[in-house]
Amino acid sequence: MVLDCDPGHDDAMALLLAIADPAVELLGVTTVAGNQTVGKCTLNARRVLSLAGAPDIPVARGADRPLVRPLRIADDVHGVTGLDGPLFEHEPKVPEATITAHELLVGVLTKHDSPVTVVATGALTNIARLLSARPDVASRIDQIVWMGGSTERGNVTPYAEANCFVDPEAAGQVLRSGIPFTMCGLNVTHQALVTDDVLSAFARIGTPLAGICVEWMTFFASTYRRLWGFTAPPLHDPVAVARLIDPAIVRCVEANVVIETAGEWTAGATAVDLHHYTGRPANARVAVELDRPAYWTRILDAVAALG
Ligand code: RIB
Ligand code: CA
Repeated sequence: MVLDCDPGHDDAMALLLAIADPAVELLGVTTVAGNQTVGKCTLNARRVLSLAGAPDIPVARGADRPLVRPLRIADDVHGVTGLDGPLFEHEPKVPEATITAHELLVGVLTKHDSPVTVVATGALTNIARLLSARPDVASRIDQIVWMGGSTERGNVTPYAEANCFVDPEAAGQVLRSGIPFTMCGLNVTHQALVTDDVLSAFARIGTPLAGICVEWMTFFASTYRRLWGFTAPPLHDPVAVARLIDPAIVRCVEANVVIETAGEWTAGATAVDLHHYTGRPANARVAVELDRPAYWTRILDAVAALG
């Protein structure tokens, strides 16, 4: 798999899961503007790979803005660095790749013999650009598993989830491409709450990396408490990785999904036809239920395995 992300606290945890879980092989990391500028997100991805002791996984910088809209960052949620919490004094040892995210995706998809999944935990700008520039290569993507959207309400506007809101045109283009698509939206990621018992389990691992995870999730908890009144924050992005690792962890149903791009008040909304009102054919697998114990076991095991 390739992880296309905008780290981000939950993206950081998704990276750790993808690096350490034996069921997947992380071939590369591509970054996209979203939670913060693409420069900060790329630095954060390099930092996570350094902390995980994974210097050989390439980190390539992607789109610095959405296809047509101005960039809206989420510094209110993820802080000025995009990964606020623990302080890091030094540059990460993992370098930025000398190739772009586009070149990394083209390279991986053309050279790899076995099927390659793209797990996306940010706006879908990089994939939409690949579809426009190299449809021949994009069609080699085995499947896309995305954290984004919602079957219910949004988290940046009443109806739009952040990753979809940042670049709804890109999300619409990717959905129309016909590449097998799984949507892990807020309706399921809000089942992945970092409750006190989960936080204690991370602390009990006792490694420096686990300590940093606790600091990240504690910061994330503070913003979710302040902005939304949550008693525990939802760890969104690893849900998409977990779905690839073991589909039984994230139950999905087939449904038609379209992206609102023209609505005056609803841009970035995902219109998910769970009840077949429209007669439009299913074009996505839509996540509806999380096996919480299995989810947390997988993430805790991953962090413990990284030492
Ligand atoms: O809405 C949740 C998503 O927005 C997550 O991917 C989080 O990292 C932010 O980008
Ligand atoms: Ca993200």
